[in-house]
Amino acid sequence: MDKRFYITTPIYYVNSLPHLGHAYTTIVADTLARFYRLQGYEVFFLTGTDEHGDKIAKAAEAQGKTPKQFVDEIANTFKETWDKLGIHYSYFIRTTSDKHKRVVQHVLQTLFDKGEFYLDEYEGNYCFGCERFLTPKELDEKGLCKDHKAPPVYLREKNYFFNLEKYRAWLKDYLSKNEVIYPSFYREEVLNLIEEPLPPLCISRPKTRLSWGIELPFDKDYVTYVWFDALLNYLTVIGYPDDPSWQDYWANSHHLIAKDILRPHAVYFPIMLKALEIPMYKKLFVHGYWLMGSLKMSKSLGNIVSPLELSQTFGVDQVRYYLLRDMAFGYDAEFSLPNLINRINADLANDYGNLVNRTLSFLERNFDGTIPPWGELTLEDREFREKVERGIIRYLEEFPRLNFHTALEELWQAIRFANVYIDREAPWTRVKEGNYQRAGTVLRNIISAIKSFALALYPVLPNSSLTLLSALSVLPSTPSLISSSTSVIPSSPSVIPSSPSVIPSEARNLSFKDLFNWDLPASGTKIKRCGPLFPRVDEEKILKEEQKVEAKKEPELKDEPQYITIDEFRRIDLRVAKVLFAEKVAGADRLLRLEVSCPEKRQVVAGIAEYYEPQELIGKEIIIVANLKPAKIKGIVSEGMLLAAKDADGLAIIIPEKEKEPGAKVG
Ligand code: MSP
Repeated sequence: MDKRFYITTPIYYVNSLPHLGHAYTTIVADTLARFYRLQGYEVFFLTGTDEHGDKIAKAAEAQGKTPKQFVDEIANTFKETWDKLGIHYSYFIRTTSDKHKRVVQHVLQTLFDKGEFYLDEYEGNYCFGCERFLTPKELDEKGLCKDHKAPPVYLREKNYFFNLEKYRAWLKDYLSKNEVIYPSFYREEVLNLIEEPLPPLCISRPKTRLSWGIELPFDKDYVTYVWFDALLNYLTVIGYPDDPSWQDYWANSHHLIAKDILRPHAVYFPIMLKALEIPMYKKLFVHGYWLMGSLKMSKSLGNIVSPLELSQTFGVDQVRYYLLRDMAFGYDAEFSLPNLINRINADLANDYGNLVNRTLSFLERNFDGTIPPWGELTLEDREFREKVERGIIRYLEEFPRLNFHTALEELWQAIRFANVYIDREAPWTRVKEGNYQRAGTVLRNIISAIKSFALALYPVLPNSSLTLLSALSVLPSTPSLISSSTSVIPSSPSVIPSSPSVIPSEARNLSFKDLFNWDLPASGTKIKRCGPLFPRVDEEKILKEEQKVEAKKEPELKDEPQYITIDEFRRIDLRVAKVLFAEKVAGADRLLRLEVSCPEKRQVVAGIAEYYEPQELIGKEIIIVANLKPAKIKGIVSEGMLLAAKDADGLAIIIPEKEKEPGAKVG
């Protein structure tokens, strides 16, 4: 079968409970899995837990448990969390499983036999958080690990090393010729990283120091480095090396990660594959961080949000929608409760929910809940169909590029237009006039569009889509969850047991083929009642409760000086951008809309109209903050912020002193 889609999440460390950051990656994978299933692909979706290494051994010890007891408990918590969030993974891998251990030992022996490893004595600064020796560049000015803000331990020991440098030229060549890493600025980051010689990778840990790992098959005194073990999970599950079908999955493998683990996935793993003579994976999708304020949400900073609590308060679909809508894939996004509530109230309750509610209740009141026949279509009816189809097509185009935020915005334009169409065509007035045929045609057109919205949105809003599609009788009955062991994955790799997760049986009948079928649901179909899909959230009440909870907590970072670190500064992506076009924004005296090249084309809305005429700016080079979260200003999406200086005499934009290539980095 050539239509295969293999998608993976990182396997999460079991020293932390699942938080919103983990949930985001897993929800993105689940969304993509559903999207490709509805496109007719055979999908295999892998997630799991990373259970070896120092971190885990120490966390178990801290709780007075054996590592085995400890990892069993937390792995179960991950599974339960994903089940409660309705994640339909195909397989959950645990690196402590026998199957995985066998694959890791096979790989270690193969590379050892090929002469890829050598024994050497090494001394240097070892960080227990990173679980590896650090280079001097990875220490800050105080000699602490930059990531963990902890002092490394000076160690001297004999270990096995893997000569990565041998493959650096190949990797550079491969990455520069193939668009494997997406978004492409992460590919650039990796290419920069491998400009310099790569230090050898230490692939072993002496058992005298750490025994919680997979033993080296060629030296019983050592276990392997946790990353060497973990990365191989992507191969274990598809049957490598015994089941030849692993290669079909591998040719379609897509790995989702956040930027924290770019180096192991984009440098170590490709080199491991090359040394094993395994082809490169198909794609590495890299996203940014969910931040709390300006800090990464993480267990070590103690600023995590629980995905389960959030879903219990607001609903699973609502949280999925917010996460996918408010993060531009690849960039960081700041988690904000008011923004979440606003998305629920404005987009889900007002735009989408309201469209559905008023259409279905009008149908019930005036047509006995039965889909009326078509009358003649007017120009307006056709225009409506075109807009809906265009919105859906754009949505489908943006999805595989993981531009969920733009995909959803495109679809929402169609949803908002459906509200405009119903207001303009006012079927209630036609009914009052006794013109049921015209009212029925408008209604019928909207109901078919609602069916298409629900179907298109199934990957993002699976629960409400299933409720709606069964109310519209497009699905046989109200969804019921059944065990997936009755062949959810038609031909999953033979070496692993079938999926333990569940999938609604009805969802298997869904297909995007029905997206443009305006005769579905058919005339004469009786529609079932369904309550409000997205109840409005009382923002004031929620925020007050939140403040009460916050007030009880000690403000953890209150004594932090008001400095930013060099790493925080580096996160700001400042770029040279050339202004291609500029115009005033209608109805906003202070705003100009600029189209710039940096070098990709984007638009920036800036409050500089009092100081600059649009023509003055065309052709000028300016500096923009390129990784600012896109925001809507007066209804126009601004994809960056221009830098300017202001004093009592007015405002001046910042321009490079000499002409520079659009896109050149400023820093
Ligand atoms: N065990 C390794 C991965 C091995 S994969 C072969 C690991 N585990 S982890 O538990 O630390 O998970 C890291 C991943 O969790 C990130 O790459 C990302 O997918 C997710 N996230 C953790 N915190 C996050 C944010 N604050 N924001 C977004 N994603 C986050 O690294």
